Amino acid sequence: MAKIVVVGSYVVDLMSRTPHIPSAGETVLGGPFQMGPGGKGGNQAVAAARLNSNVTMVTKVGKDIFGNDAIQNFEQEGISTQYITRHPKEQTGTALIAVDNNSENMIVVSPGACGLITKQDVEAARSAFIESDIVLLQLETSIEAVKATIELAHELNKPVILNPAPYQEVTPDLLAKVTYITPNETEAKLLTGVEVTSESSAREAAKKLIATGVKTVIITLGKRGCFVYDGRDEGRLIDAYNVLAVDTTGAGDAFNGAFATYISSGYSLDEAIIRANAVGALAVTKVGTAIAMPYKDELESFLQDKVTSN
Ligand code: RIB
Repeated sequence: MAKIVVVGSYVVDLMSRTPHIPSAGETVLGGPFQMGPGGKGGNQAVAAARLNSNVTMVTKVGKDIFGNDAIQNFEQEGISTQYITRHPKEQTGTALIAVDNNSENMIVVSPGACGLITKQDVEAARSAFIESDIVLLQLETSIEAVKATIELAHELNKPVILNPAPYQEVTPDLLAKVTYITPNETEAKLLTGVEVTSESSAREAAKKLIATGVKTVIITLGKRGCFVYDGRDEGRLIDAYNVLAVDTTGAGDAFNGAFATYISSGYSLDEAIIRANAVGALAVTKVGTAIAMPYKDELESFLQDKVTSN
């Protein structure tokens, strides 16, 4: 069983369906509203736990009802809450999400308490880091937490997956300590200046990232799959699975939680990505984020169906 430490955000997702994403100054009449656990860190932790990983979550929530819910939700998922701290004054974070008729989304995150995770909070989880096979983090918390996580994992010689979402600047000395980086096209452009529109531009962006010292680059390309490059050849595209998407929010989180699970369970790089692509595909067939993450048996029967239908 993969042992994973996730350092990241927990926020409550407040999601409305809408005919189209509103433009500046526009009010639209939305459809159904749904509230549930979210945040890129929390979603990735749930994705990994549902694939039977042993997950420890490091985050911060408020001393409010949403904070109580967070701890209850993580416990129900079998995720260790030992290193979830509660800020005395700041509220639990929230995300306002609009999902349109094409299943595309727009998100505004107010990190609240999880934007205030400190170096001490991360270092308090040292024993979980020591026990872990891999460390997974995003950029939806404070840069202080990001720095402390990468430094601690590096000190302990643990592989690190950085999902650079949402984009914040990360210094080159930190990037050089990252094992796997998983930007989408937008984040890849912000990190490298290269507009990723094709396989060759994905390769160009990936080469720039490898030059920073990152060991392996996986650029997620939505319906087109991923471009993977570890600096040893010219890199390759790995196809996505074709499914009927109803809500793409959290697809990247599903991918990252699954990738952490399988790359630390002994799967090859390509096999771990193929499985992560399948988990991302299954997640977009359901509405919601953490609650839409598939369980291991769903993944296995999806993959089995693909084998028998080929
Ligand atoms: O990646 C999707 C997540 O981004 C949502 O759950 C929302 O909380 C935002 O953090």
